[in-house]
Amino acid sequence: MEMQVKPSKRLETFHNYEKPFRERMSELEQRGKNIISFAGSDVHPFGYMPPKYVQEALIKAAKKNLTMYPSIRSSIGKRFREAVVAREKKVHGVSYDPEDVIWTNGVTHAHELLYFSLLDPGDECLLLEPTYLTWCEFGYVYSDKIISVRGGVEENEWQVDPDDIRAKITEKSKVLIMVNPNNPTGAVWDRKTVKEIIDIAGEHDILVISDEIYDLIVFDGLKSVPAASVANDVPVITLNGLTKNWLAQGWRVGYMLFHDPEGKMEQFKKKLMDYVDFLLLMPPTMADAAAEVLEKSLEKGGMDHIDALNRKLEKHRDYLWKRLNEIDGISCVKPRSGYFSFPLIEGIGRIWKDEREFVYDLLEHGVYVRPGFLFGKVYGQRHVRMSFILPIDMMRKGLDRLEAFMKKRMA
Ligand SMILES: Cc1ncc(COP(=O)(O)O)c(C=O)c1O
Repeated sequence: MEMQVKPSKRLETFHNYEKPFRERMSELEQRGKNIISFAGSDVHPFGYMPPKYVQEALIKAAKKNLTMYPSIRSSIGKRFREAVVAREKKVHGVSYDPEDVIWTNGVTHAHELLYFSLLDPGDECLLLEPTYLTWCEFGYVYSDKIISVRGGVEENEWQVDPDDIRAKITEKSKVLIMVNPNNPTGAVWDRKTVKEIIDIAGEHDILVISDEIYDLIVFDGLKSVPAASVANDVPVITLNGLTKNWLAQGWRVGYMLFHDPEGKMEQFKKKLMDYVDFLLLMPPTMADAAAEVLEKSLEKGGMDHIDALNRKLEKHRDYLWKRLNEIDGISCVKPRSGYFSFPLIEGIGRIWKDEREFVYDLLEHGVYVRPGFLFGKVYGQRHVRMSFILPIDMMRKGLDRLEAFMKKRMA
């Protein structure tokens, strides 16, 4: 038998749980079936484009020919860190030092790095669910102590359940992870809620990680509340990047921000910085372009594109949300941010065994939605995630199919 290189045990624990659904969709499409997918988070195919200065910043950076190996303390790194700090101050009124910023290759990279660098066997990590899928997938690679916490009460606009956080805390709890504003539910937690989470974490010496990639994609006149803005002495690591606010998914620009007024993360931050220096050698040439984008965004009119985007997304959100609630057997809380809704499929557990069965069944009827368990092993169940970045006509066609499908199955 020919030699086979075996993946490490750690790699074996990684699963792309969505892959079988995508494979089934491709099979059906290859056989000529038309499928409308509500999975998407890439906005470009649907005509949403970044502001012009994003492209110009990349061209400008390329012309500087920054192709050498500067160290992480290089002028590129400095410019990027200072731009991030200036942005956080202006947009959220939160103060950081440039040394509080760590570059990552997109926010997804930060998810993996944080699990890798924080969790030892036995350490418990409280994951507020529903959550973004890579928080689940990488979490299960690095720990068997990812504790699902009820991070949103559906009947209360997906606001957090502080009692469940308290109930899940043990002396082994080390980290609490939240997505704020939330993907997949679209929840925008109010100040009281965010403060309550932070206070509970503070009482138990738990580090908070807050993924705030949708901080400005917020509707209905609401404002997101950054965890660090209400944290005082509680340590918080905030994640953000260029993916959503600048529609620059392909740039892979992310960063971590350390809010640590009492120096509780000093040792950890220094060690992680050393590691990232070694891993990436520097913030890449891209960091120069990213710094330019952040600087431009602080100029007059620099974030006008977000207002236009939010207005358009609000219309799409309204359409999807209204239609979903008109379908028998489906109910959906109004999303207040981001690109997604997280409707409850009431027949799951009765007509369909679980979301897997529902999603496969619906695929045969020409619609793809992402199963809820991807967004939380426990608190994602009985739900599916549906994007509203699709053109309204496309959504209409997909929702007509969904409605007909539900009628048939509920009869
Ligand atoms: C909450 C959340 N975090 C992280 C990411 C991934 O970000 P990036 O493209 O910067 O890796 C996404 C993308 O959809 C997201 O929704």
